[in-house]
Amino acid sequence: MKKVWLGSSWKMNKTNEEVGRYCQLIKPHLSNLSADLQTFLIPPFPYVKQVETALSETRCLAGVQNVGWASSGPYTGEVSVDMAKDIGASLVEIGHSERREWFGETDATVNKKVILSLNTGLRPLICVGDTADEKCWGVSAESIVRQVKIALHGVSAEQVTKVLIAYEPVWAIGEHGIPASTEEAEMGLAAIRSGLTTLYDSEIAQSVPLLYGGSVNIHNAKMLLRQPNIDGLFVGRTAWQPEGFARLIQLVTEVIEEQAYA
Ligand code: PGA
Repeated sequence: MKKVWLGSSWKMNKTNEEVGRYCQLIKPHLSNLSADLQTFLIPPFPYVKQVETALSETRCLAGVQNVGWASSGPYTGEVSVDMAKDIGASLVEIGHSERREWFGETDATVNKKVILSLNTGLRPLICVGDTADEKCWGVSAESIVRQVKIALHGVSAEQVTKVLIAYEPVWAIGEHGIPASTEEAEMGLAAIRSGLTTLYDSEIAQSVPLLYGGSVNIHNAKMLLRQPNIDGLFVGRTAWQPEGFARLIQLVTEVIEEQAYA
């Protein structure tokens, strides 16, 4: 069975104290995880080391929410891939729609960051998504496959097996988001899978974990995960409290068990 991925980015939330409490409360839920489940947490930069250290005995990876597109130099305020590695990150979230919308992230900078991350031994978690207008115009699949193709420009077949891709419809994210239906989520990830097959081959395309993100909650998590092209869930708000993340771990484990006996 393919590994199932479940993780959360905390975006720009939490204090030192809240991070400590979160880790303490979630730790018991991360012990004895199914061997088929890989979890991860992506805190703001200042807390990455704290999370990585607190959860080091569990199968929960720590990641960063962004990296600079250069490896070093006069880029005030940026954090490099080497620095991300130094603070204990093994994953790098790249191209989230909030970064694209507010901080000038483009497909080209996403590509630079993907290459740098892979060369540093970090796993990029590339986020792509269609806007509400693109959905309305019926070009969602074209838009997300285009983003994936540019993000992976120059990435070899060997390297791409270290990449994770999250389909996060812009219209589905956050407080005002409308959760994608299971069909819409599956359609987006099936389009990405087929784009990967064209770029590489079907075996490689199958080996790249494809995650869905955007208003994932305890009511839709299981249905989403049962879709053939959804290998994991990337969650915001529902996992910001340890109770929510714990509940999602439980639900995802139930789907893994269900599929193991199918
Ligand atoms: P949400 O965030 O689950 O709160 O909609 C998802 C995301 O931005 O990755």
